[in-house]
Amino acid sequence: MADRMLGKVAVVTGAASGMGKAIALAYLREGAKIVAADFNVEGLEALEKEADELGFADSICTIKCDVTSSADCDAAVALCVEKYGTYNVLSHNAGIGDNWKLVVDMEDSIWERQIAVNLTGSMNIARSSLKYFLPNEIKASMVMITSNAAVESSTGGAAYTAAKAGANALMKSIAFENGRYGIRCNSICPGPVSTNIHVGIERDPAGTAVHYATGYNKHYAEWALKRVAFPDEIAPLAVYLGSDESSFMNSATIIIDGGVCLG
Ligand SMILES: NC(=O)c1ccc[n+]([C@@H]2O[C@H](COP(=O)([O-])OP(=O)(O)OC[C@H]3O[C@@H](n4cnc5c(N)ncnc54)[C@H](O)[C@@H]3O)[C@@H](O)[C@H]2O)c1
Repeated sequence: MADRMLGKVAVVTGAASGMGKAIALAYLREGAKIVAADFNVEGLEALEKEADELGFADSICTIKCDVTSSADCDAAVALCVEKYGTYNVLSHNAGIGDNWKLVVDMEDSIWERQIAVNLTGSMNIARSSLKYFLPNEIKASMVMITSNAAVESSTGGAAYTAAKAGANALMKSIAFENGRYGIRCNSICPGPVSTNIHVGIERDPAGTAVHYATGYNKHYAEWALKRVAFPDEIAPLAVYLGSDESSFMNSATIIIDGGVCLG
C-alpha cells in the first residue's frame, strides 16, 4: 500500500520508540508529512536517520516535546504549521507504564506521574491541536493510543488503568464536541506489545503480562494468539484512523489485543 495518507500532515507523539515510531514510519510510507515529537532526543535522531535512509528526509522534522508541558505541545503544533503550512492528523502515543502498582501500595508520586503523562499529556496535545484545527476550519483526525487496560483492569496497574480510562473518556468528549466541525477522534487500545515501555518494569522474566502484582498471572502461551504483538501490527490501524478511509469513525474505542481480554 502507498499514498493512503497523501495530503496528511501529522504530529506523532512518542515517535522515538515503540508504537509511535512504527506509526511515524507507516505514515511516511503512506505519503504523510510528519512532526515527530518526543522527549527522547536520541530516539528522535535515530528515527530521522532511518526516515532519511528510506528517502523521507523532506517529510519529517523532529521536536523535543514533553507532553506534560502545554507549551511544548503548542510548539510541536506550531512547528508543523510552520514547516508544512498546515496540520490535520494527531497520532498521540507518548506514554509510560506504572510498575503494576496495586491500589493499596500506591505511591503518590506514581499516581501523579501516571495522571500527568498518560492523562494530562493527552489533554495537552489534544488542546494544542484543537486550538489550530478549530479557528482554521481544518477537517482533522485525532488518534489516541490508550490501552486495553482502560477496559480490562487485569492488564495494567491501577494508576495506569485509571489514567488510560480517563484518556478514553477524554477522547469521547473530543469526538462529541468537535465532530460537528469535521474533527474526528478515536482511541486505539492495544494489548501487550513488544516495546521499550516494559523495560525496567518488574515482571516475571518468563513473560507474564497479565496482572503480575495480584498473582492473576497468565503466560503468553495461554493467550488466544499465544504471543504479544509487534508495533508494526498496531500501526496499520493508526493509518486507517488517520486517513480518510475512516471518515465515519468517530468516538470509537478499538481494542487490538489478539484476544487477551478473553482470558
Ligand atoms: N507496549 C504495550 O504493551 C502497550 C499496551 C497498551 C498501550 N500502550 C501504550 O502505547 C503507547 C506507546 O507506548 P510503547 O509501548 O510504544 O512504549 P515505548 O516506551 O516504546 O514508547 C513510548 C514513547 O513515549 C515517549 N514518552 C514518554 N513520556 C513522554 C512525555 N512525557 N513526553 C513525550 N514523550 C514521552 C517515550 O520517550 C517513548 O519514546 C503508550 O501510551 C502506552 O501506554 C502500550
